[in-house]
Amino acid sequence: MARKIVITGGKGGVGKTTVCAKLGIALAHMSKRVLLMDLDIGLNNLDVAMQLEDKVVFDLVDVIENRCRPSQAFVQDETEPTLYVLPSCHLAKRQISAEQIKRVVSRLEDNFEFILIDCPAGLDSGFRRAASLADEAIVVVTPHLASVRDADKTVAELVGNTVVNVVVNRVRGDLVANGEMLSAFEVFSLLGQNALGVLPENDEINCNVLSGCSAAFELLADNLVNGKQQMFDCVAPYKGLFGRLRRKLKRNA
Ligand SMILES: Nc1ncnc2c1ncn2[C@@H]1O[C@H](COP(=O)(O)OP(=O)(O)OP(=O)(O)O)[C@@H](O)[C@H]1O
Ligand SMILES: [Mg+2]
Repeated sequence: MARKIVITGGKGGVGKTTVCAKLGIALAHMSKRVLLMDLDIGLNNLDVAMQLEDKVVFDLVDVIENRCRPSQAFVQDETEPTLYVLPSCHLAKRQISAEQIKRVVSRLEDNFEFILIDCPAGLDSGFRRAASLADEAIVVVTPHLASVRDADKTVAELVGNTVVNVVVNRVRGDLVANGEMLSAFEVFSLLGQNALGVLPENDEINCNVLSGCSAAFELLADNLVNGKQQMFDCVAPYKGLFGRLRRKLKRNA
């Protein structure tokens, strides 16, 4: 039976969809059978991030309304044969209940090892619907106070039946070394949940979600699969004499 994990975070734009897509790729690299489910209904960011938008024929709403079988709505990744996306509907927001989606998930969970659920921003009904499908959560947070505050509220909504993991995204090692940005470890300690991973700010991801940062996502996937706590070190390149020079160059760039 699949591990069902909601990727959430409260605040918009912190990297939930990016983490969902790239963690899915890293898990598929480990030969895991993975389904990415887009529950940001009406916005369909996940198939766009995965560059599979043109291959979408049916979506989650078509499955729920019996216009197709789940397997007809899956889009298989072009490079990872064990990775599939179940897109959300493209058009206006639809009234879909958690129960309707739960029925779809229960038909699918024996076919996958991981179902990653991309959650909309906020803590309203869209969040609650996505969270109710999962037994585990990954709270994505950036090292900024507004994001940490929203992540803390998200954690408060989740704790109970859900295992809560935290991933700190967009860490700038140069700013942490200068003491100008919270370190990932400070964020973990503020949120007080399981530390699952650290991801650096990366220009390649900013331009194309599918490129860049593979090493950090491989560590994240290994932590998730094997219960480890290996953290990508964003600060190491900015320590020591050459590190100081790199920081200075980055500041002047
Ligand atoms: N580590 C990173 N380094 C650089 N850019 C990043 C990183 N993570 C995410 N981004 C960029 O930030 C933007 C927002 O990311 P994403 O869409 O994944 O956020 P989100 O939390 O899903 O947003 P929303 O709340 O709108 O669903 C994207 O342009 C993405 O490329
Ligand atoms: Mg998103």
